[in-house]
Amino acid sequence: MEMPAIVLIGAQWGDEGKGKVTDLLGGQVGYVVRYQGGNNAGHTVITPDGQKYALHLLPSGVLTPGCTPVIGNGVVIDPKVLIAEIDGLAERGLSCERLLISADAHLIMPHHRALDRVVERYLGSARIGTTGRGIGPAYGDKVARVGIRVQDLLDPGILRKKLEMVLREKNQVLVKVYNRKAIDVGAVVEEYLAYAERLRPYIADTRLVLGRALENGETVLLEGAQATLLDVDHGTYPFVTSSSPTAGGACVGSGIPPTRISQVIGVIKAYTTRVGAGPFPTELFDDNGTHLAKVGVEFGTTTGRPRRVGWFDAVVGRYAVRVNGISDLVVTKLDVLSGLPKVPICVGYEVDGQRVDEMPMTQTAFHHATPVYEELDGWWEDVAKARSFADLPLNAQRYVERIESLCGARVSVVGVGPGREENVVRHPLV
Ligand code: IMP
Repeated sequence: MEMPAIVLIGAQWGDEGKGKVTDLLGGQVGYVVRYQGGNNAGHTVITPDGQKYALHLLPSGVLTPGCTPVIGNGVVIDPKVLIAEIDGLAERGLSCERLLISADAHLIMPHHRALDRVVERYLGSARIGTTGRGIGPAYGDKVARVGIRVQDLLDPGILRKKLEMVLREKNQVLVKVYNRKAIDVGAVVEEYLAYAERLRPYIADTRLVLGRALENGETVLLEGAQATLLDVDHGTYPFVTSSSPTAGGACVGSGIPPTRISQVIGVIKAYTTRVGAGPFPTELFDDNGTHLAKVGVEFGTTTGRPRRVGWFDAVVGRYAVRVNGISDLVVTKLDVLSGLPKVPICVGYEVDGQRVDEMPMTQTAFHHATPVYEELDGWWEDVAKARSFADLPLNAQRYVERIESLCGARVSVVGVGPGREENVVRHPLV
């Protein structure tokens, strides 16, 4: 029997707490695949023995016994970061021997990191607020067909040739436009050939491996990084990342066909956060915002930057359900709202005097959107001990049910605390 591929995505601007779901699916999944993004992502995984791990590039499955972690073709890999992450786990007694890296994934090169930083500086107040890891320039080169891929590490002659070609142009830009030092081809080739030796055992034809795994009845989890509103096509462009975190991107970034996707799980925070620049209609600058940031510990895992915080936006939630085909919502961090007298939900926007219920068509309109709120009553009780829906205070139940009806997808799990067990499961995820 052919078993399913399950997609797991963030429904807002990232940092929704996707690790919770990976935990809940745990032993039932044979393969965990990352299909886009790079080391701009960050998730903290707490293993059953209470150990805490911060991962940026490795799929969370690397910590699940018996699970094969896969870095798919859609990911951009900074090999230095990947090797450091592998070594960091090895030091703590965890082996990455099952890890598979797609030969078709693109590499982040020194010129990508250099350009990410200088371009952001050059943009000034129009900057995106990138993580500065070279993600955008690496994807730019991929699409411009001058990217360097993992498989190029296996052919030193080709690696040098491709790098010479691309640096001929990039060095002109770095030196003449941005007044930086040129990058030396020989030094980069030498550095990357050393990485090649370390990564060689993991490089594989991952689309073939995954296709066979599905034929053999294995369950494959496709784990998105970033989130729907950071998608280069469906997000708040240009304040987005340069890949496709939405469910459609899971097929492109892994080589698994759409007909094999059986379920899309969307993770959505009980309020909203965003790192970096760009429009954010429900953003808060008052005491409520301070409460959410403080109680929710809203700092970026990768950059340590404080996250911007705001009320739950059901327009965004509904949009994410539609674009991704979300079958199950997982609402995280409900506990953070405890103690607030009112918990408003944004149910629509007012744009230049007009009421709208869906995401505005244009960037200009979205920048002008002011939220229309429905005020729900809050609750004071600590919800961390709740394990069934009935254990939640009545007002918390109403809040979750309102999210469900406004977004148009069932809420299957509610996170009530940071711990692995701190969840209310209304419908098992698989
Ligand atoms: P880049 O992905 O580094 O190019 O950054 C582009 C935008 O995506 C910036 O606003 C970043 O803050 C945001 N971003 C990238 N990765 C994450 C993430 O894992 N969580 C939240 N925001 C992210």
